[in-house]
Amino acid sequence: MRRESNIVLIGFMGSGKTSIGKRLSLRMKWEFIDMDDFIEKREGMSVSKIFAEKGEDYFRNIERELCLRFSEPKCKIIATGGGVIKNEKNMRNLKLGGVIVYLSSTPETIAYNLRNDDSRPLLKCEDKLGRIRELLGQREPVYKKYADITIDVSELNMEDTLNKITEEYNRYEDKHNKRTKH
Ligand code: S3P
Repeated sequence: MRRESNIVLIGFMGSGKTSIGKRLSLRMKWEFIDMDDFIEKREGMSVSKIFAEKGEDYFRNIERELCLRFSEPKCKIIATGGGVIKNEKNMRNLKLGGVIVYLSSTPETIAYNLRNDDSRPLLKCEDKLGRIRELLGQREPVYKKYADITIDVSELNMEDTLNKITEEYNRYEDKHNKRTKH
């Protein structure tokens, strides 16, 4: 059976979207797109600098353009930025061409993953764990609402995560293809 829906990874900062996406793209031999990386290359500056110099709205506008650009099913693995779910249209566009996979994680695991990382403008504060708890609390229901597949990655190693994503993706696609034939 031909499968071509993109795999769109959503989830909180530090949940592993980029590293998992890269590994998945090697395994599936599909192109990998990292939306933040794409934006940084296009703008010639880091996300942090874009937020500081041009503002969050400017960043969100480019993010919105990219969601439209990647709304066709083209066998891509797409790692989104954690805030992509703030705009419903983004998710509608990404869903047109892909299966949405939510990589869910705990605040503690996220804080651990980001312990040496100061590149997230929204987490620049004294109490990083507290901020993660607060923001994740607000966003978790939204991630879940848009997810076709949810995978709790907090206890999984890379290999098990990749296996789980491909398994669930194949199951989802089988079910979906069957449905569209009738
Ligand atoms: C953001 C997440 C970041 C980046 C920007 C805003 C967010 O991406 O897009 O700093 O609002 O959650 P990652 O999830 O890749 O860190």
